[in-house]
Amino acid sequence: MTAHYQVHGDVAVITLDNPPVNGLGLSTRQAIADGMAKANADAAVKAIVITGAGKAFSGGADIKEFGSPKALQEPNLISVIGVLDNSTKPVIGAIHTVAMGGGLELALGCHYRIAAPGTSVALPEVKLGLLPGAGGTQRLPRVLGVEAALNMIVSGEAIQSEMLAMLPGQKLFDKLAKSAESLAEEALAFARSVADVRPLPRVRDLKCKHPQGDAYFAFVRNMVGAMSKNYPAPLKCIDAVEAATKKKFDDGMAVEREIFINLMWTPECKSLRHLFLAERAASKIPDVPADTAQRAINSIAVIGAGTMGGGIAMNFLNAGIPVKMLEMKQEALDRGIATIRKNYEAQVAKKKLKQDKYEQRMSLLTTTLSYDDLTGADMVIEAVFEEIGVKEAVFKELDRVMKPGAILASNTSTLDVDKIASFTKRPEDVVGLHFFSPANVMKLLEVVRGAKTAKDVMATVMTVAKKIRKTAVVSGVCDGFIGNRMIEQYGRQGGFLLDEGATPEQVDKAMEKFGMAMGPFRMGDLAGNDIGWAIRKRRYTEKPDMKYSKTADLLCEKGRFGQKTGAGWYDYLPGKRDAIPNAEVVKMIEDYRASKGIVPRKISDEEIVQRLVFALVNEAAHILEEGIANKASDIDIVYIFGYGFPPYRGGPMNYADQVGLFNVVQAMNRFAQNPLDDANFWKPAPLLAKLAAEGKSFN
Ligand code: 3HC
Ligand code: NAI
Repeated sequence: MTAHYQVHGDVAVITLDNPPVNGLGLSTRQAIADGMAKANADAAVKAIVITGAGKAFSGGADIKEFGSPKALQEPNLISVIGVLDNSTKPVIGAIHTVAMGGGLELALGCHYRIAAPGTSVALPEVKLGLLPGAGGTQRLPRVLGVEAALNMIVSGEAIQSEMLAMLPGQKLFDKLAKSAESLAEEALAFARSVADVRPLPRVRDLKCKHPQGDAYFAFVRNMVGAMSKNYPAPLKCIDAVEAATKKKFDDGMAVEREIFINLMWTPECKSLRHLFLAERAASKIPDVPADTAQRAINSIAVIGAGTMGGGIAMNFLNAGIPVKMLEMKQEALDRGIATIRKNYEAQVAKKKLKQDKYEQRMSLLTTTLSYDDLTGADMVIEAVFEEIGVKEAVFKELDRVMKPGAILASNTSTLDVDKIASFTKRPEDVVGLHFFSPANVMKLLEVVRGAKTAKDVMATVMTVAKKIRKTAVVSGVCDGFIGNRMIEQYGRQGGFLLDEGATPEQVDKAMEKFGMAMGPFRMGDLAGNDIGWAIRKRRYTEKPDMKYSKTADLLCEKGRFGQKTGAGWYDYLPGKRDAIPNAEVVKMIEDYRASKGIVPRKISDEEIVQRLVFALVNEAAHILEEGIANKASDIDIVYIFGYGFPPYRGGPMNYADQVGLFNVVQAMNRFAQNPLDDANFWKPAPLLAKLAAEGKSFN
């Protein structure tokens, strides 16, 4: 059963019990309707309480059910809420922990609501590309006022129950319980106190108006329209709330319903729903059971206090986990600590961090120059120079001093984690933790699983990643892991496009219009063009047959490494990040073309987007087939959280699925005909070819 029915004297209690968050799937909806029927048929029952078991009142409609016939099957959520609303006996929603989406809409269908303090209350549907579809846009403005409700609906953000209870004139809560523990008792007492009150108060009967009417809605449309560019849902939320202020309740409901159904089938909504489930799926590793015993991680050591070491340390300090940093010299430690302080002080200045929190975090940080001081740490993360000899020396020391069972992690971005593990006598304890720069900001963490990494180490680091608020994705060992291996092909296509007639600006603009946070050339300038140069130099000896445009090398030969040198593909004014096109760079590209006898052609934005994105997709299909990534959705997560891929496109694999893999393969076959491109690369990866032929998709 996904909801239980019990009678306590003259009060019936319906308890949602559908772990993990009491999602309102078909069986739960049916169980609520059954409970309501029983309660209304029992003359001894005077009032009905609805509450939730476990860690939520309800997280809302069952997202996994969307798109399946079950989602529409009766009793649907609107019908169930109608049963509550029309009950002849008072219904009291007793909410706690989480009341979101359909869960909050269910509570709004009750005649009374009592909330535990600390309940996260939200209508987060907009984050899934939707709007609340079971009366939320019609009922919430009636209990909170139009502005407060619209803010919640358009942002999707959660607000704590005690904050909402303080809003003047709010009718969302009739009572705030003293504590979560006393909620059940207080709800029963409240139910008895209102059992005989008639008429029953119904949210639908409350007035809903905004004093400025049209002017207010014009204002919010302007504001929200400017911010929500590629996302259709936020503006639609406004349409529905406006209907609540101008139409009768049932007509407003019809407006909401129609918009909800139309949004559900937009590619943006499908992508955002995919993203929600993909993010949660990423933490699951197929052969590592969820109940794998984990190692306790209560303290961390970080080796190297440079760019990455400092950012990595901050993640743990922010989570309240003590960190000891080791460096070769005191000056390096001092520099590292000063950078950490500067970062925190900037947050304090922007009022994003309180002074006492800052001091508390810094008090968790200690430093050392001696490996012998690291023996107490449960996990060590190495972030020293990217040279195998340096890593060897460091890991031999770590093997000597770290206690048995400690996890030994490397933040290497290009080196072989298995080789690093082989420098120790405990390769099972070694794992790659590839943070992205700036490590204290970027959400993505690639967890690199070595051939011998123990399962409990994998389970433990996935939990640690959650604690430090990273989205972790598992990658096998290969050159570049998932993200950088794919980006190399993306960059290579960018180079060919310049050879054939595009400018860096045109390529960047096309990709930014597609939705990327940054085009490839602006991204190169940000990361440092010298990094790609070093990789290419390695490739020229490792893979002499691999074709590259030489324009990026010419750029680096001029010392134009990017933002850090004030000049790259673009120019940068001191301290600024705005990319200013540079005529010399364009001329450099033109001269290179001429030297190769290439006659430039006009390249469409569509071709630019397809070549760059499909280059990611083809490499990703190899990665998937080789088992480097466990699932296609993991690759989507890597690109959205680490490389600025637009969430509303759901990641490169989801995008390819939406385009249709048959069409993707057709395009690749066309690109292979281009003599200036790399025909070898465009041979569709076997997995891609197979899925396309079978009419299947990646996800
Ligand atoms: N439906 C189905 N499953 C859900 C769910 C939902 N609404 N919300 C969460 N889950 C599942 C997750 O998929 C995950 O499953 P897993 O264990 O199998 O991976 C599990 O619950 C735990 O989720 P989290 O890891 O996110 O747990 P947290 O404790 O960190 O957060 C939460 C809990 C705050 C409820 C968070 O999961 C959340 O924000 N959920 C989404 C809520 C939402 O968007 N609700 C609106 C749904 S649409 C709707 O209601 C339409 C209606 O208007 C008609
Ligand atoms: P960095 O040069 O800024 O910092 C390295 C630090 O390590 C220096 O402070 C140095 O003094 C210290 N160090 C060197 N040898 C040491 C030793 N034997 N013992 C103790 N400390 C030592 O380098 P950065 O950028 O922080 O990179 C560190 C690691 O992180 C590298 O493996 C790099 O590939 C990886 N990485 C870097 C990213 C970036 O964007 N910078 C992104 C992801 C990973």
